Amino acid sequence: MFSFLTGKTYVKNSKLIVGCTDIHSHLLPGVDDGATTFEEARRAISALEEVGVKQMFLTPHIAGDLPNNLSESLQTRFNEFLQECPSSIQFKLAGEYMLDNNFVDKISNKALTYDGRHLLVETSYIAAPNNFENLMYEIQLRELVPVLAHPERYLYQSFNELRRLKRIGVKFQLNLFSLSGAYGNVVRDMALDLLNIDAYDYVGTDIHRITAFNASYQKLKLSKSIIAKIEQLFENNQTLFNP
Ligand SMILES: [Fe+2]
Repeated sequence: MFSFLTGKTYVKNSKLIVGCTDIHSHLLPGVDDGATTFEEARRAISALEEVGVKQMFLTPHIAGDLPNNLSESLQTRFNEFLQECPSSIQFKLAGEYMLDNNFVDKISNKALTYDGRHLLVETSYIAAPNNFENLMYEIQLRELVPVLAHPERYLYQSFNELRRLKRIGVKFQLNLFSLSGAYGNVVRDMALDLLNIDAYDYVGTDIHRITAFNASYQKLKLSKSIIAKIEQLFENNQTLFNP
């Protein structure tokens, strides 16, 4: 399985995601830029079953420009999803909250956290929110823990700025396919740098479409030491799913 020359192995040939818990996905149909129909979600889910995913959080985008994505309506949609998409995978609902002007209002009432405590957040890819650290404190004031989605993808944030966020108590979620170069080499290198200092707490696929997932999954090759680090992140994921 391991290439003698590169010391890297194809993840598809490893057991890395067999039995795993994915904490970041966009398979709740028709609510964001992920799956559009139940049929599309069913196709994605059966492919994920085949590669061994066992538990998944659905994490639809929750943002000011998606005014219909409220906790209650997403919960209703999630209940429909469970009826329409029977599966051996166990699902739970959380949300991926954009740190925009509406953010504090949105988390002040029944926020869709992972476990009642951990809250997945993201920022724009273009620029940081002006009040980034204040927003982290707003989360903490509500006795919640911010989990920043794919910090490696925010190219305006330097390595040291990201380390500062860690110091104020922000947890980091790696996108697995950042490591396959799915978002470019700069993002891949930042992910490797952050892995090297053990900055990540959790890992997710951030799946939107099964075609993109498969393309990245087929080509993802990692060293033994990186696989060991990601195995630990998948273990951490389980503490969110089964608190
Ligand atoms: Fe996402």
